[in-house]
Amino acid sequence: DVMHEVFDLADMEAKLAKKLGISNVYIVPGDSDFFPWVKKEMGKKGTLLLKNLLKGEKDVIAVTGGTTIASVAEMMETDSEMQDTLFVPARGGLGEQVENQANTICATMARKAMGQYRLLHVPDQLSKEAHDSLIQESSIRQILELIRSANIVIHGIGQAKTMAERRKTPENILNKLQDEQAVAEAFGYYFNHSGDIIHKVRTIGLQLEDLKHIPDVIAVAGGKSKAQAIYAYITNGPSQMLVTDEGAATEMLNNV
Ligand code: F6P
Repeated sequence: DVMHEVFDLADMEAKLAKKLGISNVYIVPGDSDFFPWVKKEMGKKGTLLLKNLLKGEKDVIAVTGGTTIASVAEMMETDSEMQDTLFVPARGGLGEQVENQANTICATMARKAMGQYRLLHVPDQLSKEAHDSLIQESSIRQILELIRSANIVIHGIGQAKTMAERRKTPENILNKLQDEQAVAEAFGYYFNHSGDIIHKVRTIGLQLEDLKHIPDVIAVAGGKSKAQAIYAYITNGPSQMLVTDEGAATEMLNNV
């Protein structure tokens, strides 16, 4: 029955938070690998957390790409308290399709919440030269400063192989990821099971070390298939809050 289910999830949340070593885990029922509505439920939970974390003035929320954060945007509702909230993309181009890009998601969230947004226009796969000259541009510097001033970050986590393939990563990098046993991906960084960085996509915006200075970092990721990736990233990474689903949570508790 329903009460039993709620109780079981609360129990799982506490156990999983302990196993991952973070303060807050939120689990929605179901497995998003099999049912699309489960991803929407994670999205809904993500929007509620964002609202609760607002300071009420000069809030800056940085968002990443991916289908899960896209569903956070999809579930966002108009809120008069979000009028002054500024949404920014966490990092520049990571090789996603338009609908999964941080810029697109950021604009959608702001539009739905009736908040503000600023975008970051940089091509994917920057050369070292292009990167170094872009960060000198004054318009880029301004937006980078805003991004680094974010007080909340909401981001996705993916499986290393899935993400590398989705981004049409060159063969030599794919081989490196496989040889060095990359399992997780977040913010354009690929990690092994111990959280060592195996590879990083060169783009501007938030770098992993910047996240340590951001007060609230929320990860949203679910599906049994992502259990290993979520575990590897969360136990070693800077996120303190995780929104996940029963599919990923059960697998993490029992088999990772
Ligand atoms: O590419 C952006 C990104 O947030 C990645 O860092 C992450 O691995 C992926 O999207 C998650 O995508 P999805 O939610 O579609 O699994």
